[in-house]
Amino acid sequence: MIEYIFFFIGFCCILKVALVLLEFLQGYSHISDIKKYGHSWAIITGATDGVGLAFAKKLAQAGFSLILISRNPIKLLQVARELNLQYGINTLTIAKDFNDCNKDPQEFFNGIYAKCQNLNITLLINNVGYGEKAPFIESLPLILRQISINIFPMVFLTRLILPSLISNGLGGIINIGSITTLRQFPVLIAVYSATKSFELIFSQTCSQEYNLDILCIEPSFINTKLTKIYRRKPFNIQPDEFVEASLCCLGRVGHSFGHWRHYISYFFYTVLGPFISILLDITN
Ligand SMILES: NC(=O)c1ccc[n+]([C@@H]2O[C@H](COP(=O)([O-])OP(=O)(O)OC[C@H]3O[C@@H](n4cnc5c(N)ncnc54)[C@H](OP(=O)(O)O)[C@@H]3O)[C@@H](O)[C@H]2O)c1
Repeated sequence: MIEYIFFFIGFCCILKVALVLLEFLQGYSHISDIKKYGHSWAIITGATDGVGLAFAKKLAQAGFSLILISRNPIKLLQVARELNLQYGINTLTIAKDFNDCNKDPQEFFNGIYAKCQNLNITLLINNVGYGEKAPFIESLPLILRQISINIFPMVFLTRLILPSLISNGLGGIINIGSITTLRQFPVLIAVYSATKSFELIFSQTCSQEYNLDILCIEPSFINTKLTKIYRRKPFNIQPDEFVEASLCCLGRVGHSFGHWRHYISYFFYTVLGPFISILLDITN
């Protein structure tokens, strides 16, 4: 009897690994075909640093015109100028602090959309995000900040952009989630992880409702300002590596870890669970 139980457990483990591998191959084995979205406009939130900036460069290289949204107008103009010089693309910059969007989100996001609604937009990269470790009950301003930045822009911009994507019959949305959705983190990032879970469920449900290319990417560590990690760790990747992998997944899978190194890190986290999470967090 006992051997049947072990056989069953072993079989389930192998099946789980096979499914993860299959999912990975489905998204990652292809080259990106973002050109199918046409030489049109893409919106990127949080476009002046880290992952957002890497998306801006990659999409500019592919010939997209860009609507860049971040809070710092000077950085925005610098990025726009660089992209224009290097790739000869059109840019529109919108300086907004998403931390201010929770008072009247409808007015806030309608104001942004009014500046670009006449453009032929086919891609939306909901990238902006913020997280910081802090004890939950002692961090009310941080709680509000994370909810405002991680949830509101994605929900309201998607709501405003979707009708034109639907009427064009073409369009893609990438929402940048986090591996914290699936990985067991020790403590101190309850709200960040929860907002990222929201992103995943939101993406999957919208994708089913509207049958468009909507992708939620759930990366592990990327070397950006947010993680304040500039040393090379085995599973860390650079923003441009992450973007390259994400664009390969768009239109092929509904959610993904993106880069193969993040698949491996997910595998380790799920197999060794909280133990390895704690170890990695301490060493970080
Ligand atoms: N880095 C990682 O390891 C990692 C892992 C998992 C998921 N993610 C997710 O990846 C996404 C991008 O993260 P990142 O690491 O690239 O972050 P980052 O390097 O800190 O860059 C953040 C970008 O967002 C903008 N931004 C920040 N707060 C803003 C606000 N209140 N209003 C408007 N713009 C704002 C910044 O603009 P300014 O230039 O004006 O400051 C900057 O362009 C986030 O959703 C994050 O949760 C990151």
